[in-house]
Amino acid sequence: MSHCAAVNTEIRVLLLEDSKIDERLIRHALQSEGVSFHLKRVDSRASFLNHLEKSPPDLILSDFSLPGFNGMSALALAREKCPEVPFIFVTGTLGEEVAIETLKTGATDYVLKHRLSRLIPSVHRALREARERTNRKRAEQQLRESNEQLRLLSMHLQSVREEERTRIAREVHDELGQALTGLKLQLTWLTSRLPKNATVLRQKARSISANIDETVQAIRRIATELRPGVLDTAGLLAAIEWQAQQFQSQTGIVCRVHAVVPDSSLNAELNTTFFRIFQETLTNVIRHAKASAVEVNFFEVNDHLVLEVSDNGIGISPAHIYNRKSLGLLGIRERAALLGGEVRWEGKPGQGTKVTVRIPCPTNAPAAKHSDSHDENSADRRPRRRAARVETHSR
Ligand SMILES: Nc1ncnc2c1ncn2[C@@H]1O[C@H](COP(=O)(O)OP(=O)(O)O)[C@@H](O)[C@H]1O
Ligand SMILES: [Mg+2]
Repeated sequence: MSHCAAVNTEIRVLLLEDSKIDERLIRHALQSEGVSFHLKRVDSRASFLNHLEKSPPDLILSDFSLPGFNGMSALALAREKCPEVPFIFVTGTLGEEVAIETLKTGATDYVLKHRLSRLIPSVHRALREARERTNRKRAEQQLRESNEQLRLLSMHLQSVREEERTRIAREVHDELGQALTGLKLQLTWLTSRLPKNATVLRQKARSISANIDETVQAIRRIATELRPGVLDTAGLLAAIEWQAQQFQSQTGIVCRVHAVVPDSSLNAELNTTFFRIFQETLTNVIRHAKASAVEVNFFEVNDHLVLEVSDNGIGISPAHIYNRKSLGLLGIRERAALLGGEVRWEGKPGQGTKVTVRIPCPTNAPAAKHSDSHDENSADRRPRRRAARVETHSR
């Protein structure tokens, strides 16, 4: 039988009952079915509560009316102290309406004393359901924990990747840049020692010099693509403006930026997140939108930072928005979610796409306060809310 598991382990029963005779009948009913149990009878509110708190049972059996205490109050206490433990009324009489009321307020079941044969099936069912509830809760908890771990891992990977890019960008820029500058100096030295009439050699030297200049440009470009220095030196608004100008000059798509955000609302994480989302969104415009203009708004409202990027292209379809294979969109969502934010895409066929990214402003974390204390303005406690404004309408 499916009940076997419940009978094998000893179940701890708390019985709220003033009659010793009834206790004996209940014990007998349980024993007759081979249930292994340990039963403790209590008959007052104080000892009932004491047991709930000190040694919560696996099962509560309760009379409906006792001198000085009553079943409904016991039920309320049990729901409060140990909501997981099944609670079965075992009572002499119970009108149908009262019975329904007890079930509504959280009793697992009720059994009439003159029908104690019903007790065993009721106990088994109650314990099985309790076990299932516990298992489900445990599974849900494990799922939550593993989701949380994935989220942390994802966050870690993003930041490792960003640090790595920053490091490589710096090394490429500095090391290779310096090496090339060295080469160029040596070339100049060499050229100055070439005989005036060595036309062919001088021409060759000029072309090598031009090659070096091109390589320096390429290195700058690669380093900037890895991580634009402006993001770290001048901040997010400058980086957005810079990216918009790059985009416009490379694609011919007009890109207007209206950004009004107090710089106190931003931090390094937000900078990177908004910037990468912005880049990814512009890439999508280039690849998919067939747009001729893009409008960017970046502002703060209701303790949220909001980035809106609208294009006037073909309009993204719901099928693409909700497609699990839209990995680019998924990455954007994930980046925003890591900072507690969310992203919405709206597409109108033939009229364009609007992407809205909303991320909560960072709460005034101790770290932020700490760095504020180094701020020259903090000495006289003036509020520091300089608004950075970017308005780009260049063509
Ligand atoms: N601005 C846009 N305008 C029209 N369609 C878009 C736009 N952005 C995204 N899409 C659609 O959404 C799909 C999913 O985008 P994404 O996840 O970034 O994948 P990918 O860019 O690699 O195709 C794209 O293939 C495209 O069909
Ligand atoms: Mg994409």
